[in-house]
Amino acid sequence: MAEPGFFITFEGGEGAGKTTQIARLASKLREKGYNVVVTREPGGSPGAEAVRAVLLSGAVEPLGARMEAVLFAAARLDHIEQVIRPAVERGAIVLCDRFLDSSRVYQGVTGGVDRTFMAELEHATVNGSMPDLTLVFDLDPEVGLGRAFVRRGDHTPDRFEKEGLAIHQERRHAFLAIAAAEPERCVVIDAGRDAALVEDDVTDAVFAALTERSIKSLNDVAGV
Ligand code: TYD
Repeated sequence: MAEPGFFITFEGGEGAGKTTQIARLASKLREKGYNVVVTREPGGSPGAEAVRAVLLSGAVEPLGARMEAVLFAAARLDHIEQVIRPAVERGAIVLCDRFLDSSRVYQGVTGGVDRTFMAELEHATVNGSMPDLTLVFDLDPEVGLGRAFVRRGDHTPDRFEKEGLAIHQERRHAFLAIAAAEPERCVVIDAGRDAALVEDDVTDAVFAALTERSIKSLNDVAGV
């Protein structure tokens, strides 16, 4: 992603605790004087939030995973142009709850949309706005779905939560495969532990990445 800001995404299965950890990290970063923008996908901009409602209601499901993939991509393009890129360009740290890797996993791997088509969509939307850092929250799906169930209360599960355990297991492996393939961008966080321990790992990963970036910037200034 273009400097001077920093773009961090949070990925993983259902009920992995991303939202809680994003809120904690945001306050920690703000305390240190960083300008922080918290956002999410699908959604994050007015246009993308409209698409979110349609996608999560399940209304698009009968039209197929390819149609869903296109709509997630359309929402992402709007979100990048309206929110993410401007924020990074003005020097903010953007914390985004789900992004591109969710499409790769949910629409690509478990949705069965072919790789070439997914790569073309990715190129048309994300090109030039890849995250600087992605934290992959790894959790046994049985635990995650249980947490999502408690969080949801009386509400019915959304389009993706309601799918069977085997599909959620496949997604877990797909997220881990992405992290293994792109170790320079991804850090796996063991999300099955106490929230305070998860928070420590998130803090360490983020501050290490920020430190690395600022060293690079200093070197640039010094002409190294
Ligand atoms: P949300 O309620 O935001 O879920 P969570 O709290 O688990 O992040 O719902 C987002 C759902 O949309 C989630 O099940 C994952 C799915 N999704 C995709 O299928 N593809 C995508 O590209 C994105 C961003 C999300």
